[in-house]
Amino acid sequence: MPMNIAIDGPVGAGKSSIADQVAARLRILHLDTGAMYRALALQVLREGIDPGDEAAVCDCCERADVAVRYEDGAQRTLLFGEDVSGLIRTGEVSAAASRVSSWPAVRARMVRAQQALAAQADMLIDGRDIGTRVLEHAPVKIYLTATAEERARRRYMQQLERGDMTPYEQVLRELNARDAQDMSRATDPLRQAEDAVLVDSTEMTPQQVVDTIVAIVEEAYGKQ
Ligand code: DC
Repeated sequence: MPMNIAIDGPVGAGKSSIADQVAARLRILHLDTGAMYRALALQVLREGIDPGDEAAVCDCCERADVAVRYEDGAQRTLLFGEDVSGLIRTGEVSAAASRVSSWPAVRARMVRAQQALAAQADMLIDGRDIGTRVLEHAPVKIYLTATAEERARRRYMQQLERGDMTPYEQVLRELNARDAQDMSRATDPLRQAEDAVLVDSTEMTPQQVVDTIVAIVEEAYGKQ
């Protein structure tokens, strides 16, 4: 059985960058499942489909060829073979990804693909429904969060560094809107699995978060 570690949490909890560092420390792969929903959302937008149109989105999902591959240990996300890893990080794609991921047929397809990937290799998998659906029986589950204000502040600072001047209030508003959507959808909404360990990073440095999660994994699996 491959080593599978689940990390869930709300927008901007740092799941992706923390998971990257934890995976590197453990010398396993990191699967960012949000990137798969984002790639589908990009295709939906490219086809001019309304992300709220369930039938059209599900039809698009059946046709869309979304895949991941690893280059030097880093995930690349492919849409019909095109590397879209950079193109899926816009605000427009984020909002559309949250919307398209609410449709049950989309989730069923993505969950199957993610479970197939998880069965192939030792992996740390981050998303919203990993501990509650994709890896229901994972021996290690983490729920990584921080206050909405702190998550928005971190995102705002990151965006400023990239020259994106979106005001803090707007960043906070969009983050809260996406969390509300991800937590209130009918199918597999974001929630902490009963057997997940809560890591609240509000007052922690990234290094402390990484060390905490590595310690939780080593406790479960023994020192790597
Ligand atoms: O983690 P992220 O922000 O890149 O995810 C983008 C959207 O995809 C998120 O708003 C909700 C959805 N998502 C999901 O429903 N289930 C997952 N396992 C991962 C992401």
